[in-house]
Amino acid sequence: MGSVTFLYIYIIWLITSVGAQVISARVGSTAVLPCELSNTSKPTVYIQWRTDFAVVFERTRRNLYQGERYTGRVYVPEKQLLKGNCSLVLKNVWFDDAGVYYSYLFVKRRKRSVTRFIQRVELEVYG
Ligand SMILES: *[C@@H]1O[C@H](CO)[C@@H](O)[C@H](O)[C@H]1NC(C)=O
Ligand SMILES: *[C@@H]1O[C@H](CO)[C@@H](O)[C@H](O)[C@H]1NC(C)=O
Repeated sequence: MGSVTFLYIYIIWLITSVGAQVISARVGSTAVLPCELSNTSKPTVYIQWRTDFAVVFERTRRNLYQGERYTGRVYVPEKQLLKGNCSLVLKNVWFDDAGVYYSYLFVKRRKRSVTRFIQRVELEVYG
């Protein structure tokens, strides 16, 4: 019984970790966290990158926002975005930038703007 549960958890872990993209970056370098809009989504420049704890970068109709810890270090080139490339550029990587990042698309639903998940990227930082 116990080993069946264990096997089940192991399979779930395998499935979820296969889809994860891992990027390694040296401290002080510039990391590019890959992101690609699917062929079916309309071109947009309104996107968001976040971690489990904070918003890293956001471009909405109203403003451009860089998270407190990321000020002056993050951007998503608009020209690339219009080509469907939503990769995040993170300059001067720190050890505590390591972690999981998620990208979202802002889409209009009725009169509200909602986020739609695009991609998950894990960043590893080495010295
Ligand atoms: C989207 O996919 C279709 C079918 O795979 C392809 O013909 C088309 O060129 C693609 N469009 C873009 C913008 O990549
Ligand atoms: C996507 O954008 C990133 C950041 O600007 C860039 O480094 C990368 O080369 C681009 N990828 C493609 C396929 O254009």
